[in-house]
Amino acid sequence: MIGHGDPSSPLKFRRRTLNSHQPQPLIARPSGPLTGSVSVPGDKSISHRALIFGASAVGETTIDGLLEAEDVLATANALRAMGAVIDRDAEGTWHVYGCGVGGLHSPAEPLDLGNSGTGVRLLMGLVASQPVTVTFTGDASLTKRPMGRVLTPLRRMGAGCEASEGDRLPLTVHGARDPVPIVYTLPVASAQVKSAILLAGLNTPGRTGVVEAKPTRDHTERMLAGFGAEVTLSDREDGAKQISLTGYPELKPQVLRVPADPSSAAFPLVAALITEGSDVTIDNVMINPTRNGLITTLKEMGANIELEHTRDVGGETVADLRVCASRLQGIVVPPERAPSMIDEYPVLAVAAATASGTTRMRGLEELRVKESDRLAAVAAGLETCGVSWQIEGEDLIVHGGRVPGGGPVETHLDHRIAMAFLVLGLASERGVSIDDGAMIATSFPRFADLMTGLGADLGSIPGGAA
Ligand code: S3P
Repeated sequence: MIGHGDPSSPLKFRRRTLNSHQPQPLIARPSGPLTGSVSVPGDKSISHRALIFGASAVGETTIDGLLEAEDVLATANALRAMGAVIDRDAEGTWHVYGCGVGGLHSPAEPLDLGNSGTGVRLLMGLVASQPVTVTFTGDASLTKRPMGRVLTPLRRMGAGCEASEGDRLPLTVHGARDPVPIVYTLPVASAQVKSAILLAGLNTPGRTGVVEAKPTRDHTERMLAGFGAEVTLSDREDGAKQISLTGYPELKPQVLRVPADPSSAAFPLVAALITEGSDVTIDNVMINPTRNGLITTLKEMGANIELEHTRDVGGETVADLRVCASRLQGIVVPPERAPSMIDEYPVLAVAAATASGTTRMRGLEELRVKESDRLAAVAAGLETCGVSWQIEGEDLIVHGGRVPGGGPVETHLDHRIAMAFLVLGLASERGVSIDDGAMIATSFPRFADLMTGLGADLGSIPGGAA
């Protein structure tokens, strides 16, 4: 068993600062058919929440299939620094000994969440209603991302927050001693903001509510109910949905199984679709309706994706996805679908680049505030690869057909930009190189091995230069 905070742990989170970051240029070349069966790692959203809710229960929560990637390890380390005991005993199997709702202490040092927006925003909510003072920071990407969307509701609940200019990291949260419940209408469709408020509601008297006009991923409400909290969902007259949580629940430790991450499955899935002759099965993928917009969209484009052995695992529906190479057709993707596939647009743009005709992806404003400005990064990457595109307002338009390839595509410390353009390289005429694949470790550490195992020609660049 590897003890918490053990400096010899191979999984100890590496701090990623501007000075220590080592770029890893990679290249993907045109490849023959991809074939075989693969398992992608555990869902990132569920993994963060499993650790955070486990740390808020009293007793031992066991998690099987936890995503062992930098983002999730950063959350584990942050929780340890505030008093939770978290151990790993085998690959993917972790034990969390929680301190109960309101039981955290102030960490001795600032918490560095690395690249993880989910980790930092959920933890800001968790501490906002506890009598602790916590300074949060992150890497060069995370410190550029907006935190005001979380700070505004947390301040309304009574937390004191001092942030860097523009409500950015580093920032300090002084948790409210007497937090007040609020009912908050989300100004942006964001599961992270929803979750931060509900987490603050745990140690707050009365009922804390979040109103969302567009449904976002529902893991927080589902999992909190599973841990024993009183969570109610109601439909409002204006068509919005309200999620309400009663404060001071006694969260009971759980045995959890994390299903495979649909956002990671998206990369081998699109790779198989666009690489001629491919036939790939991806096992055990979560198909929660708040996460499966990509499959809906690709099927509309003509993709051959079969959901096999659909079953229930630990409260989520999962299926094995059988994907065969398909001739894709451009379509219009409606804006209301964006929350159910928000992380999948870079790889959808890659699929669109190989499709015949034009694909218009509507309503992508939230892409501007992800790990990078993904709208700009995708457009620049397509340009580098010789694919024509336009941005009109908040819509991305991709004119599909020939993909000459090229590089290096600039990835801007964004794991999904890196993986998406490597996938494009497989179906390009002369391959695609990227300037830096190091960030892939934040969500999908064995991505390159998994892809080469399927037959992809993908690896580092001899001599290191992209
Ligand atoms: C996540 C929510 C989404 C998503 C992120 C994970 C979550 O962010 O992009 O990768 O686990 O709650 P937003 O809530 O900002 O849309």
